[in-house]
Amino acid sequence: MRVQVAIIGSGPAGLLLGQLLHLAGIDAVIVEQRSKEYVLGRIRAGVLEQCMVDMMERAQIAGRLRAEGLVHEGIEILFGGERHRIDLQGLSGKHVTVYGQTEVTRDLMDARAAAGAKSVYEADNVTVHGFDGKRPVVRYRKEGAAHEIECDFIAGCDGFHGVCRPSVPQSAITEHERVYAFGWLGVLADVPPVSEELIYVSHERGFALCSMRSRTRSRYYIQCELDDKVENWPDQLFWAELARRLDDRARSRLVTGPSLEKSIAPLRSYVAEPMRFGRLLLAGDAAHIVPPTGAKGLNLAASDVHYLSNALIEYYRSGKTSALDAYSGQCLRRVWQAVRFSWWMTNLLHLFPENGSFGRKIQCAEFDYLMNSRAAGTSLAENYVGLPY
Ligand code: FAD
Ligand code: DHB
Repeated sequence: MRVQVAIIGSGPAGLLLGQLLHLAGIDAVIVEQRSKEYVLGRIRAGVLEQCMVDMMERAQIAGRLRAEGLVHEGIEILFGGERHRIDLQGLSGKHVTVYGQTEVTRDLMDARAAAGAKSVYEADNVTVHGFDGKRPVVRYRKEGAAHEIECDFIAGCDGFHGVCRPSVPQSAITEHERVYAFGWLGVLADVPPVSEELIYVSHERGFALCSMRSRTRSRYYIQCELDDKVENWPDQLFWAELARRLDDRARSRLVTGPSLEKSIAPLRSYVAEPMRFGRLLLAGDAAHIVPPTGAKGLNLAASDVHYLSNALIEYYRSGKTSALDAYSGQCLRRVWQAVRFSWWMTNLLHLFPENGSFGRKIQCAEFDYLMNSRAAGTSLAENYVGLPY
């Protein structure tokens, strides 16, 4: 097969890039190691920045999002028993939209199928070659047969555990990393959310988050040990622990029910620099990971794709490489802002026993400042709704 762009990975980054390139008349194929159903079954992020919603409009896949997405103009923080609302709309002039990553993925997959664009699912042993020269090649096996794709560019949208980043010589990459000593245990359940807005909770027993997917489907998280197992958390125990971390108002409105999904996610900050190696361009989790506290992972994948799609479109329209040359620097600037914000939110709201009473006092002072300073609230709001592209 010969295409202009070979996209590795059918997560939000790969699918969004595929759709934008398709609309621009650029021939691309998506090569994914898992099945479509597996990709759709992964429960991940749920909060979209306005810029990401705008991108979905540009990608012509925002119909269901417009009808079903929940506009949120604020978030609540429950810290040491005290509630504080951050008026996102009032402080930043923007809101966020609650719409699951699964739904974004489904909308993009449906658009791709309707367009008849090429995708390969369940591709085994995907490897990337020759991106330091003019003729990159992607190889994979499917149903026992070997396949090869010749292309102009490879877009590495294959997530943190993908094949693209490890294919770059180690000496060409600089990595920056912080691994946190705890994880998030998440539960999805068909019960009405405890509140109209998200509640981020800092409690002496650990962090909790009350989120949602719709008015009838809730998503809850609690901070847990890194080596904890979902088997240790039957539904009843999860609901009891969540309830302990809430205030009376939220507890009285908490509706419990059987979990549809339960998983533990580790927390990590990670950035690989640069994001371009010749004709291999990384986007999304393939290049960077943030702890989920700031709801930035999915949104960062979208902003990378914004820059990458524009750069490829410019190249194919005019032959100019200036936007491709600027790609890594432009992305990384915004990536580091999101890394900083996610790190800050994580530090403010989680339990860090190793930081002792000094650490807790600093968290309390930070929250006190947030409650009483419009400037501090504005800073949180601006970052939460997403910095401009
Ligand atoms: P991915 O969604 O990871 O997609 C990469 C794709 O590449 C996958 O489909 C994978 O199967 C495929 N792939 C991997 N290796 C290969 C290979 N060798 N060959 C071919 N294909 C390959 N963010 C938030 O904002 N809030 C959250 O609550 C949140 N929860 C998360 C929970 C978990 C468990 C994880 C892992 C992430 C979570 N995130 C969250 C982050 C967010 O989901 C990601 O930032 C987002 O999925 C990034 O999209 P992506 O397309 O870059 O990568
Ligand atoms: C969700 C996840 C987050 O990490 C976050 O900050 C907000 C919401 C969610 O899954 O709904």
